[in-house]
Order: sequence, then C-alpha cells, then structure tokens
Amino acid sequence: ELIPYIFGIQTLAERIKQMFNLTEVIIVPGDSQDDYLAKRDLGRAAARFLKRNLYLGCTVAVTGGSTLAEMVTAFGDGINARDVLVVPARGGLGEEMEQQAGVIAARIAGAIGAQYRLLHIPDNLEESTVEILKNDVHIKTVVQAIKNSDILLHGIGSAMEMANRRGLASEEIDYLQEKRAIGEALRYYFDKKGKIVYEVPGIGLEFPDLQNIGIIAAVAGGKNKADAIKAVLSHQHESVLITDEGAARKIIEEN
Ligand code: G3H
Repeated sequence: ELIPYIFGIQTLAERIKQMFNLTEVIIVPGDSQDDYLAKRDLGRAAARFLKRNLYLGCTVAVTGGSTLAEMVTAFGDGINARDVLVVPARGGLGEEMEQQAGVIAARIAGAIGAQYRLLHIPDNLEESTVEILKNDVHIKTVVQAIKNSDILLHGIGSAMEMANRRGLASEEIDYLQEKRAIGEALRYYFDKKGKIVYEVPGIGLEFPDLQNIGIIAAVAGGKNKADAIKAVLSHQHESVLITDEGAARKIIEEN
C-alpha cells in the first residue's frame, strides 16, 4: 500500500501502533540513514521519553549502539534522579567504546544524577565461560539488578550488519543466513515473522526477563532498518517504538 506523502507523522504513528499492538509510537522527522541530525533527534526523543517515565527507585536498562549513544548528551540540566539506577542490559565490551552499553549506562546516569552498576564482561563468550561467570557472586548481584529492570531502552539493528559488527564466526553468519535472520536486538536474532532464530550467549537480560519489565522501548530509525524493526516488533515484546520518519514510512509502505 502506497501511503501518500501528505500523511502526517501522527497518522504514521497511529498506523504503526495498531500494526504492532504498541501503546506509544514516537516519530521524529527525517531519516537517520542519511541524516545525522535525525539520529540526534532520535536520541533526544528517547531521552525525553525516559525523563517522562522515570520514577523514584526505578531501574533503567540500556543497550549499546550509536542510536542509544545519542541519548547521552540529550538530557539537559536540572535532573536529579538520585534514586534511579541505570544498568547495561547485557555485557558488551566488543563494540567501540562510545557505543558500549556500559559506557552509555554510566553516561546517562551521570547526565541525570542517577546511580549505575556495570558488568565488565565481554559479549561473545563461550557458553561454558558464561556459565562459570554467572555463578560469581559479584556478577550475580549486578545481573539480579539488571533482571529487575523497570524500563528497558534498546536499539535494533539489521541482522547481517550486527553479525558483522559483533564479529560473529562465519558458521554463525551462515546459520543466520540459512534461517533468514532479518533483525537483531539484545543479541537475539529474529526472522521476518518475529521468531527468534539465534541467540548470542552472554550475561544479563534474557528473553524470559522481559515479561517482568513494565516499559520496553525500541529506539531505532533509518529506512535501511525498516525490515529489521518490523522483524523485532513482530515478536511482540515491546510496548513503545521511538523511530524516525524514514523508517516509519517504509514500515507502512511495505505492509
Ligand atoms: O542491537 C542493535 C544495535 O544496538 C543498533 O546499533 O544504533 O548503532 O544502529 P545502532
């Protein structure tokens, strides 16, 4: 269905909300695939969303990525959320420093005057190593805090792009291709229908934990990510999407 360009952002948001059964869809103008300012706006919108939803004693989990990294400078002055805890959703030292979940969590905490806890653990670990680390008492305490998160903000990436960025082995990449993985979020890979086809072992939030998190917001934009966003949202675990017009129009057009 071709959506005439006169369709405003509100109409787009309403359509996407219904399509994926979401409670809120926020769309910023532009397309972050080719416009850096649109990505910065996405970060601002996510920061505003978080400020609006923070409450005393809540725990906020964030993932890594360049989109979430845009939140860090977007809070402005005058917030003192001393009783809020910010944590990385999963370990993740594999990425560029600025884009690591832990760095973003600590910086968001700094920007809003909150507390933070970190998991100093790489992401692409062998399963046996993960099992040993999971039983360490220090790690257990942080993991428990992460699993008890009240608000989760996560990025979404195109499956193949993320697999390459995260340095997955060529057998893993072949497997993802065979399973037709389209989108990635939280180290899980999803096919077109929203089925999880692969999970990178790691420490932190796992899918069953999401059931207990009150607010789950995906933050992702750019028309190049439209299919990935659709794949991840089709799994139906988010309640909120914060995106841009480029992605939103493509999501609707292709439906
Ligand atoms: O899991 C997805 C990635 O965090 C998205 O990263 O915001 O740099 O595209 P990005």
